[in-house]
Amino acid sequence: MARTLCKTDYEAATAATRDERMGWWRDARFGMFVHYGLYAQAGRNEWVQTLENIPVPEYERLADTFCPKPGAPREWAALAAAAGMKYMVMTTRHHEGFSLWDSKANPYNSVNHGPHRDIVREFVDACREFGLGIGFYSSLMDWHHPDGWTCAFDTEARRRFTAYIEALNTELLTQYGKIDVLWYDVSAPMESWEGWDSLERNQRLRALQPHLIINDRSRLAEDFGTPEGHVTASDRDWEACMTFNDISWGYVDEDQARPYVYTAPRILKMLNTCASGGGNLLLNIGPKPDGSVPADAIEPLTQVGAWLRENGQAVYGRRPRCPIGGNGVCGTSLSPDGRHVYLWNWIWPTGGQMGLGGYRTAPRSVSLLKDGTPLAFEHRGQRLLLTDLPRQRPDTTTGVTVIDLEFDGAIEQKMFSYYPQLSGGTDYSPEGKV
Ligand code: GLC
Repeated sequence: MARTLCKTDYEAATAATRDERMGWWRDARFGMFVHYGLYAQAGRNEWVQTLENIPVPEYERLADTFCPKPGAPREWAALAAAAGMKYMVMTTRHHEGFSLWDSKANPYNSVNHGPHRDIVREFVDACREFGLGIGFYSSLMDWHHPDGWTCAFDTEARRRFTAYIEALNTELLTQYGKIDVLWYDVSAPMESWEGWDSLERNQRLRALQPHLIINDRSRLAEDFGTPEGHVTASDRDWEACMTFNDISWGYVDEDQARPYVYTAPRILKMLNTCASGGGNLLLNIGPKPDGSVPADAIEPLTQVGAWLRENGQAVYGRRPRCPIGGNGVCGTSLSPDGRHVYLWNWIWPTGGQMGLGGYRTAPRSVSLLKDGTPLAFEHRGQRLLLTDLPRQRPDTTTGVTVIDLEFDGAIEQKMFSYYPQLSGGTDYSPEGKV
């Protein structure tokens, strides 16, 4: 086996292959997170075991009643594909410690209990059938393993527990063919990568899957950052993970969660921040106890998928960050070649006109992205005026209509001059030059 690299050399080595390994991921933009485990049966958040101090023997009984219906992972993958998502990440084992695969390292699993099926296998097959990238969520924290807590202060327990974590992930990365993403979570109770042996383990795991992309939750920065519960751009590769209801990752009662469920326009707002800020959106579903998709996720995701089929150019593919401002009621993103500004109109002007400030260059053409309908415009001073817009919102399902401004060369826009009367004079705004 190859020598283990020190942290600096390891980081340099992974950085050297990152562009190649992450090309598909940077293009993908949109993925589905799936939180599925025993906790779905409780229907009160995936942390229910610890939040309610349920004793392990009592919680374990959920393993016997765990009963995913046949073909559940296929349902998730079909919806992900219909939603325009390009990859999926599933909780192979959450903090409860129950493995959803045929694990030799962990007998507390879905082949020995409940359905007596390898759900990870079904998930992998479903991803492959629908052409989706495959990601494995893998908790570091474990509430079931006897060393899961004592590892923090007992050397022998730490040695056993880190070996256990490695054995689990080795199984996942050797039993299912090519896996694209390893998505670690919650590195408690130990507080350092040294404690978790992350440097050594991650190198050995990468040797099993040289194209593997690893997230930043094993206390090493690795390939990408994981803002959680908010969509915020950062300077490195990033993927925002979001629940579907702002309440829970695991299943919660649908009737009660309904008012909090994201709508298609809310999802598009998140995607806009990703497309303009160089990141991905990993949007979660928490399947019901029998593994079926919560009904309230289906319509918004299907609408987003239909929208992406018409407007995907504004989203997919690696593209420059967008320094161009909107007009206050629209978002923006650039095309991969930087020659198009896409205006994501959250609302549609009622008077047939739309003004955009700060444009020092005029576009060559303006059109609706979804069907190429040309739109009339005038460029006066630094003001771009769209003059004869359709009176009705062209996008009738989500309401979010994208206008495509195509430029010949460099786009010069400065957002925004605080004082409209100062045309090109004093300007307190950041440079918006592409
Ligand atoms: C948190 C939670 C966990 C969830 C994860 C998703 O860290 O502990 O329940 O799986 O976030 O990002």
